[in-house]
Amino acid sequence: MNNYDTSFIATDGLERALELLRAKPSISQPLPDALPERGVGEVQALESLAPHVFGRAAHLDSPSTLAHMDPPTPWITWATALWNASLNQNLLHEATSPFATQAEKLVIDWLSPFFKMQGGHFCSGSSLANLTGLWAARDAKGIDRIIASESAHLSIAKAARILGLPLEVVPVDDYQRLDVSALGDLSNACLVLTAGTTATGSIDPLHLAGCAKWTHIDAAWAGPLCLSSKYAHLLSGIAAADSVAVSAHKWLFQPKESAFVLFKDVELANRAISFGGSYLANPNVGVQGSRGAAAIPLLATLLAWGRAGIVERIEHTLSLADKLATALESDNNMVLWAKPETAITVFRPKNLSVEELLSRVPEGMFSSCTIRNERWVRSVAANPIANVENIYKAVAEASRTNA
Ligand SMILES: Cc1ncc(COP(=O)(O)O)c(C=O)c1O
Repeated sequence: MNNYDTSFIATDGLERALELLRAKPSISQPLPDALPERGVGEVQALESLAPHVFGRAAHLDSPSTLAHMDPPTPWITWATALWNASLNQNLLHEATSPFATQAEKLVIDWLSPFFKMQGGHFCSGSSLANLTGLWAARDAKGIDRIIASESAHLSIAKAARILGLPLEVVPVDDYQRLDVSALGDLSNACLVLTAGTTATGSIDPLHLAGCAKWTHIDAAWAGPLCLSSKYAHLLSGIAAADSVAVSAHKWLFQPKESAFVLFKDVELANRAISFGGSYLANPNVGVQGSRGAAAIPLLATLLAWGRAGIVERIEHTLSLADKLATALESDNNMVLWAKPETAITVFRPKNLSVEELLSRVPEGMFSSCTIRNERWVRSVAANPIANVENIYKAVAEASRTNA
């Protein structure tokens, strides 16, 4: 190998990578069955991989995609993610991430006030953000159990298992919100409330925040509504929480893996979830050790769009969900589960099974969920460039065939 290996410097190959990104080739040759002994070189590797990566991806930026909590990402995040990969900063040590550490602090300082929290840190997803919040609850306040509704995300049950804490599951009301009347004693518990449940986007009664020894709000999906002066009221009550989890790779349009956990008393929480090590200048806070600079693409997006630009896109997706729900409500072949509260529209055809309807619309248009043993079609309006008129037309067409 050369002393000066050009694999580690910027070359024309990067231009080719961008050309392939624009061209999105889809005709592919099979990849080798086994690890090649000799490589083909970077450009040839990109050429042979691109048709697989682009051709066989789920196209989250398609105008007919309105299925999951995974948005298309703005191009400024592609550029900054590339910068991140080239720099490979490690947030574990400030010495290996001088600006990236500051950038994360800046983003956390900008966003925390919208959630009425003091601070926190980035995690690779909200499963980790939830685990971190519940870990802080256990070790900062000595809670002895976790209480969450039936509709809470599976990451809450995982966290309870990992932390060795019993999980009490509370029933939900007709709108999939935690049923307040079913709650018992909260004095030594961590109460988990969800702002935007995974299946239906329902918001638990957040006025309960502050009633338990620790309240954690899983705002993985609906948290970004706190940035909207028009819709922040949907999450009122969040100010009394002790910790909040938010996924930036959902409704803040960030590439994976981008989420954050915020705390009301960040010093108290950080004391409980920090570990020192002889090789560390500062204690390691949270579950992850080495982690990348996920805050930089978000910082770039916030600079490019501002709060108003983020909120415009979120509010636009809310209006897409409303439009779809209004069209479905007035369609005699459809049953709307409820008006969408946080851009998740749940419905089912009257004359077809959910699976049959899904097989008749373009792949990736919708997802599905089960509520009280009944199958429903689920549509998450995470895609601001979706064409909801055409999406509704496809549903109407698919359901008419058998009506
Ligand atoms: C309400 C809720 N909480 C937590 C999560 C977990 O987030 P992640 O997939 O980022 O780990 C999800 C994921 O869909 C979710 O819907």
